[in-house]
Amino acid sequence: MTRRAVVQGVGHYLPERIVENAAFEATLDTTDEWIKSRSGIERRHFAADDQGTSDLATYAAQAALDDAGMTADQIDLIIVATSTPDMTFPSVATMVQDKLGMTQGYAFDVQAVCAGFVFALANADALIQAGQAKTALVIGAETFSRIMDWTDRGTCVLFGDGAGALVLRAEDGTGTSDDRGILSTDLNSDGRYRDLLYVDGGVATQNTGQLRMQGKEVFRHAVEKLAQTADTALEKVGLSAENVDWVVPHQANIRIIQSTAKKLGVSMDRVVVTVQDHGNTSAASIPLALSVGKSRGQIKPGDLLVTEAIGGGLAWGSVVLRW
Ligand code: UT7
Repeated sequence: MTRRAVVQGVGHYLPERIVENAAFEATLDTTDEWIKSRSGIERRHFAADDQGTSDLATYAAQAALDDAGMTADQIDLIIVATSTPDMTFPSVATMVQDKLGMTQGYAFDVQAVCAGFVFALANADALIQAGQAKTALVIGAETFSRIMDWTDRGTCVLFGDGAGALVLRAEDGTGTSDDRGILSTDLNSDGRYRDLLYVDGGVATQNTGQLRMQGKEVFRHAVEKLAQTADTALEKVGLSAENVDWVVPHQANIRIIQSTAKKLGVSMDRVVVTVQDHGNTSAASIPLALSVGKSRGQIKPGDLLVTEAIGGGLAWGSVVLRW
């Protein structure tokens, strides 16, 4: 008997305000055509002034609980993946715990930037397998609009705000890759590349700072590392890309998504793509894509999924799960 962390429900929240590419033409030397052709992005959502990451996260968590037919008092672990917490501390996860009315269990944040949701899922899986939690809310939530340099056309047109969440519960599996739930994970980081993508503020500078990115370099690493980590995670359970029903990638750039799918040998009709509507929502992008993919009727019970992501650190990784 193998304990598995099995998906019970999924949900997401996108702020009401939608900003189309064309809106940037008024203030920047850019065009809708450039943004669309270089990134695949057409629009993104931005949080309202009075909304923090914890608000977005709580809405997504509630939607996932509703989808699971569960209530917050049945949850004993919350992990929030975010790089845009409301405050330096406490964690967004404890804020969500309070907003859901929970006084039981434990909650903490994971910070692995765009790979954050993959790292959070791997942590939840490990805690569930170790018997330290039975039910977990795993949330990716971001308000990257708060850390944009609105004069930098190379970054500010790319990112958006949003949140997505999964409810996981411990179930007994057979130990084979036919089991539902998380089957394998592969996590990596290499701090030598920390200058490629970072925020130039924080506790040391006593201000929040703004995102800085060497886009071309990050692109190069993404294309090299994403297919590799997905293949590694699949190999760990004796599977290969041909067994995969859906690739659910981090949604940073359609060209990265396409070249990773090509390297994996998976056709684009087996890839969930939301980048056109959400932009890059960092740690929120994979749970958003899972939720949208399910509501579109793409992801169905029993499907084999592989998620992969890379971001600041650099940190990258992959999770294989059966829905
Ligand atoms: O989620 C975390 C991981 N992040 C990523 O995966 C992002 C990875 N990088 C990318 O997605 C792409 O590198 C970008 C979309 C950021 C840029 O695409 P690119 O094809 O690599 O373009 P580039 O940076 O090489 O820029 C090409 C040209 C430059 O002009 P010159 O130097 O050739 O004259 C840029 O200044 O495009 C210019 N440019 C723009 N032009 C119009 C950069 N941003 C814009 C813009 N509008 N918004």
